[in-house]
Amino acid sequence: MKLCMIGTGYVGLVSGVCFADLGNEVICVDKDLNKINFLKKGKVPIYEPGLSELVTKNFRNKRLNFSTDLKKSVKESDIIFICVGTPTKKGGSSADLSQIYNVTKEISSSINKFKIIITKSTVPVTTGDEIEKILSRKNSKKKFSVVSNPEFLREGEAIRDFSFPDRVVIGTNDKKAAKIMKNLYSPLISKGASYLQTSRRAAELIKYASNAFLATKITFINEIANLCEKTGINVEDISIGMGLDKRIGSRFLRAGPAYGGSCFPKDTKAIISTADKFKTNLSVVKSVIKSNENRSKILLDRIYRMLKKKLKNKKITFLGVTFKANTDDMRDSSSLKMIPWLSKKGAIIKYFDPTGHKNEFSKLKNVTNKTSIKDAVQNSDLVILHTEWNEFKSINFKNLVKGKKFIIFDMRNLYSSLKIKQQGFKYYSVGK
Ligand code: UGA
Repeated sequence: MKLCMIGTGYVGLVSGVCFADLGNEVICVDKDLNKINFLKKGKVPIYEPGLSELVTKNFRNKRLNFSTDLKKSVKESDIIFICVGTPTKKGGSSADLSQIYNVTKEISSSINKFKIIITKSTVPVTTGDEIEKILSRKNSKKKFSVVSNPEFLREGEAIRDFSFPDRVVIGTNDKKAAKIMKNLYSPLISKGASYLQTSRRAAELIKYASNAFLATKITFINEIANLCEKTGINVEDISIGMGLDKRIGSRFLRAGPAYGGSCFPKDTKAIISTADKFKTNLSVVKSVIKSNENRSKILLDRIYRMLKKKLKNKKITFLGVTFKANTDDMRDSSSLKMIPWLSKKGAIIKYFDPTGHKNEFSKLKNVTNKTSIKDAVQNSDLVILHTEWNEFKSINFKNLVKGKKFIIFDMRNLYSSLKIKQQGFKYYSVGK
């Protein structure tokens, strides 16, 4: 089977490369010529551990190729994955599906034999129906089948999530397409992934409901963390105690800054917008969004109090500014709310991120990037551990800075309070 991935963003590139690594012949298409040329040189435009090695390996053994020619690539392939972006509409909350439909129109004029057209992009319920309508205008229904196959890849863990998924969800009622899809995923199913075949609409909703639920879980534990801080309880005990209940599960119960990234903020808004369209009130998800928006204010207020209500000229260091570790992605990172606010209040900010300088802060007053942890923390009044990179997990602060002690605000609960205090630092964490 020949596969065509349309869109070489995060989802398309990772899935395409991993499918090639499973032995399929894959062509990844993008309209951005620079990106395609870059990829052909074995370079990867996104930060994802392990991805570049897999691109080089599979490009060399000719299972993976790149092209800007969508029509030709579609004609030559049997299975077409649509992996273009579905960002939030400007000034709105629903998903902008213009890229999906533009691509569909191009595919429509390239159907020369039976093709399975799959949405891997996160798309609202009924998008598959719409794609089918567009394709039917020019093509007989016998010539194609539209399937939903949502992805559940986390940035920074995407290769592992692809290779060892909890589940593979295939949304179709078409037996022929279902058989081909199950066969495509058989190497992962035989390794233990659950295989679930549903209706197309159900598969579309499973993706949004999963992201909305995970966002709810995080927001829930963040609010419980606030209560723990007031009651002298360690939120980690609560996460463990709750997580041991198999009905709850321990993952995504780590309290920290507001959740961010390219998915949870966008998808929680989009599912509400879909529900509104169908006159249904998703009040839980609405309050999750509100609570998460308020999270950065709560943490900023703690910073304000830690620095005795004086922020002007205070030297504050951020270790990590992306929305989480193992990614260079800044989208909806809580640092984008916290750093500008602190800078406006007159604080002097230094930051170090393992993925380097961030343009997002270039225009801010008194915000500078440092290229090492040591440079970033020198002479600080307050050091904020904002993301959970491994290299932030065992810093010997005492050896790093001679003499001057700063306050440490560990927003990811990476350290033992006792050990840090023994080194002579004032230490604050989350939910303790
Ligand atoms: C998320 C989902 O986890 C993936 O399953 C999904 O495929 C992806 O969105 C998507 O829709 O494409 P991702 O956005 O890469 O993946 O990031 P996560 O690892 O889920 O983290 C999201 C946010 O939650 C981060 O800000 C992270 O720091 C935060 N988080 C996560 C917590 O605060 N606590 C936790 O216990 C877990």
